Amino acid sequence: MQITIAKTEQAASALAGKVVNEAVRKNPFIVLGLATGSTPLGLYAEMIKAHQKGLDFSHVRSFNLDEYYGITGTHPQSYRKFMNDNLFKHINIDLKNTRVPDGMAKDVDAFCRQYEADMKAVGGVDIQVLGIGSDGHIGFNEPGSSLVSRTRKVTLAPSTIKDNTRFFKKESDVPRFAISMGIGTVMEAKQCILLAFGVNKAKAVKGMIEGGISQFCPASALQMHPNTLVFLDEAAASELELKDYYKWCQKAK
Ligand code: GLP
Repeated sequence: MQITIAKTEQAASALAGKVVNEAVRKNPFIVLGLATGSTPLGLYAEMIKAHQKGLDFSHVRSFNLDEYYGITGTHPQSYRKFMNDNLFKHINIDLKNTRVPDGMAKDVDAFCRQYEADMKAVGGVDIQVLGIGSDGHIGFNEPGSSLVSRTRKVTLAPSTIKDNTRFFKKESDVPRFAISMGIGTVMEAKQCILLAFGVNKAKAVKGMIEGGISQFCPASALQMHPNTLVFLDEAAASELELKDYYKWCQKAK
């Protein structure tokens, strides 16, 4: 894991944006794994800015990490709508090349198998963008998820339902299930870029970087990933024991 601690969320997003935009420039046919939530919005803003300056996304393919189960892609809180509104509409990506799990899939197991097969068919994900839940989840892989799990239907933890209530009218409106890439799926991405901001993420970030590798903190599996970049603001980094060392390494580079 390569850890970068920036003063602000904006600064961290700009650094992550540089990495993604540079990769798209180098490989116009890149396969991006994308995430939702408030965390990647700054990174997506950087991608939109780069597009406005001429960066071409017309050949880029994307696979989103997850989608709520039981809602359509047009539901105001669906991750499909989130991606269209916050990124896809603002760059020249071909919508046909963007994939978000189908929250209405009838045969979920068959859908999940096909989603994995489709990822494989394009050569796998080159860069997987990730946020982290306050309980250490990535995608919707809640604590207790197998570290070799694949794309499947999962049950949201009560703490995640509570965290995500802010996007819905009331807690009972938050779907209880989702379709999510598994930890094993995420681990196959050639590079992972995880962003985390704010003090609400500090405990999860500590578990991910400095805790033991455990299904109790699914993001800790990334310690075994050969190419993961972590971008934090000061608040998210505030519980890291080796914070000064990470900053020292950052400076040395
Ligand atoms: C949801 C998503 C995750 C995301 C997390 C954090 O649970 N499934 O992919 O990382 O929320 O969201 P936020 O970035 O809004 O804190």
